[in-house]
Amino acid sequence: LILQQLDGHIIGPAILGNSTGLSSFWVLFSIVLFGGLWGILGMIVGVPLFAVIYDITKKMFDAAKEEGLNMDIRSAYRSYETQEKNFCNDMNSWIDSGYNPLEAYNLTIQSVALPGCSEHTTGLSLDIVSASNDNLDDSQENTEEIQWLMEHCWEYGFILRYPKDKTDVTGITYEPWHYRYVGETAAKEITEQGITL
Ligand code: DAL
Ligand code: ZN
Repeated sequence: LILQQLDGHIIGPAILGNSTGLSSFWVLFSIVLFGGLWGILGMIVGVPLFAVIYDITKKMFDAAKEEGLNMDIRSAYRSYETQEKNFCNDMNSWIDSGYNPLEAYNLTIQSVALPGCSEHTTGLSLDIVSASNDNLDDSQENTEEIQWLMEHCWEYGFILRYPKDKTDVTGITYEPWHYRYVGETAAKEITEQGITL
């Protein structure tokens, strides 16, 4: 806590000034998140890293808005515990539909990452939906917003992480809403070559 306070109030502002564009809530959030992930190093790099992703995401949303498109973030960072809850809820709903636990587990891992393995727990992935449709299903791909994102996200360093034709590689079913930040260079290369992580 002392280190967090020191970084948030003294070290961070001394290095970054007031130019991160982050409110104090997000500053604290990034210190806690990246500090939890990477210890003291995470506390130091957390704010600048989060500020970069925040700024880039804002630029992407603003560019879409200029074309009359409105998007919402449905999910960003998820803790291990939240992912565990999501995983168990999904598994339980398969069990409620009549599948045995092994079948339910095998069905769940096709769409929900195991706790500790989700990109959301790194803070680098966002679930983005059209403001006119908040369903996390294939219908997102028919919205103008998601079509725009699929075409332009690489320009902002994001990739569509679980494409329709890559489920054999990713092991995860098609998710037109899940975008992973990989940086502009990697995003361009991945998109041009039609490959995935
Ligand atoms: N739905 C994605 C795979 C996740 O749970 O991270
Ligand atoms: Zn996601």
